[in-house]
Amino acid sequence: MTRKDPKDLRSARWFAPDDLRSFGHRSRMMQLGYAEQDFRDRPLIGILNTWSELNTCHAHFRERVQDVKRGVLQAGGLGLEMPALSLDESYLKPTSMLYRNMLAMETEEMIRAHPLDGVVLMGGCDKTTPGLVMGAISAGVPMIYLPAGPMLRGNYAGKILGSGSDAWKYWDERRAGNISDAEWLGVQGGIARSAGTCMTMGTASTMTAIADAMGLTLPGASSIPAVDANHQRMSAECGRRIVEMVWEDLTPDRIITEGACRNAAIVAMATGCSTNAVVHLIAMARRAGVDLALDDLDALGRTTPLIANVRPSGKDYLMEDFFYAGGLRALMKQIEERLDTGCLTVTGKTMGENLEGAEVYNDDVIRPLSNPVYKEGSLAVLRGNLCPDGAVIKPAACDPKYYRHEGPALVFDNYPDMKKAVDDEDLQITPDTVMVLRNAGPQGGPGFPEWGMLPIPKALLKQGHRDMLRISDARMSGTSYGACVLHVAPESFVGGPLALLRTGDMVRLDLDARRLDMLVDEDELARRRAEWTPPEPRFERGWGYMFSRHVTQADKGCDFDFLQTDFGRTAGEPDI
Ligand code: FES
Ligand code: MG
Repeated sequence: MTRKDPKDLRSARWFAPDDLRSFGHRSRMMQLGYAEQDFRDRPLIGILNTWSELNTCHAHFRERVQDVKRGVLQAGGLGLEMPALSLDESYLKPTSMLYRNMLAMETEEMIRAHPLDGVVLMGGCDKTTPGLVMGAISAGVPMIYLPAGPMLRGNYAGKILGSGSDAWKYWDERRAGNISDAEWLGVQGGIARSAGTCMTMGTASTMTAIADAMGLTLPGASSIPAVDANHQRMSAECGRRIVEMVWEDLTPDRIITEGACRNAAIVAMATGCSTNAVVHLIAMARRAGVDLALDDLDALGRTTPLIANVRPSGKDYLMEDFFYAGGLRALMKQIEERLDTGCLTVTGKTMGENLEGAEVYNDDVIRPLSNPVYKEGSLAVLRGNLCPDGAVIKPAACDPKYYRHEGPALVFDNYPDMKKAVDDEDLQITPDTVMVLRNAGPQGGPGFPEWGMLPIPKALLKQGHRDMLRISDARMSGTSYGACVLHVAPESFVGGPLALLRTGDMVRLDLDARRLDMLVDEDELARRRAEWTPPEPRFERGWGYMFSRHVTQADKGCDFDFLQTDFGRTAGEPDI
């Protein structure tokens, strides 16, 4: 393997020349307290830290960055922490998805603008993984992803609680009048009890598993609980490894190939991934120049067994159990023959080499292929006159009786109207009704909020129903479940056919045929289309204005058109 010469380090362009500008750069390093031998001829490693006091999932990153620095220093580099936009899932309104591309832009530009030879990306909470990775792919310097790791299992009154999933479950019970105030407070205090990301197989765990399967993390790093000492040692190892990656010039384009993206998609399906994975995986792949499309994911969803018995798709376990059962390496070992094991990874070795010796320690948590949780069905992609550019459903998370369903639509144009209706105990509704929320997509939401698990109306809850067919152009939290059709594209706000649906129209879902249609004849639809007027724009200035002008639809990954790799030439290195 050829090793980079120190004079060819990217940072040398800032520090080596004997000119006034470089004198300025060197003197400013000395202002930081570094001597020449600290920063000359050594890899400068940017540690992009998405820590914030409002990001509960990254609460440990303030300390963890010290472990990374220790590793970088040991390996002969200099690690410099840089703040990066901290997208926390639980507080950001209207939705963190409005800002994923902002993090991607910040990441790309800050890497390119600074004297960095390599980067460690510290993320984990939902959008931070795709945001950091998308930006770093476009920046193109060697990078390693450091996943925050899941929090410990939730616990209340002897019961294990799963992020999100159990909140929804207990909330439905509370609305049905079955839970006291004291119990509710107990659940509130027990459901999130350590640093780390949601410990169900929600979007965070799915996306970090995807980064792991793409070869962007140390092998199996995504499964380590945030507060486990293994996580500190993994962090230090990220620091050591990135320095070597710089010398090896192991850039992301060598890692994120078509094979790596397919591996990531297969692993996502085998874990029972969050539906959000579809949007982010497509966006990440497209940044790397890999044309991964919805139909590819549907094909993999049809053939990949779901073997991670982790909630919400699995019945029983959480990420902590998954780690003890062997973690992602063990899962990947189970499906090794389906993977492209020749893909290069951040270790400098192939995926196959990384999986050597991996073992399952509990085959109820990580199932053998002969005993999957579901034979297939992590994700299915639908098409039809309601969603010509696709929609997504998670069959494994919904009651099979909805796989073939026909019922009258009950349509809401906005969230507040829907919320009022679901709380109305006298709402005229039957279990066959198909509840629809529109204007909740990338532009309409705005920002593609996670509203897709529309609440079951109280009127049905009281009759004992806990699921119904729901359709929206929104996303849904990875910890959600139920018969929810999501990501309808094109969205209604831009005139997609969902905008033409009316209350009382019959809607038909046929999962086997992958169809979603409204049973309204073409002439009538044409009449309605002629009457349709576009809604008022959501934004007249600021970030939202830029977002709504440039965001692509769900089937394209919701990247900005001008950030997509095929949009134009990437900025070269700064030349002054
Ligand atoms: Fe951060 Fe769920 S809120 S991962
Ligand atoms: Mg989430």
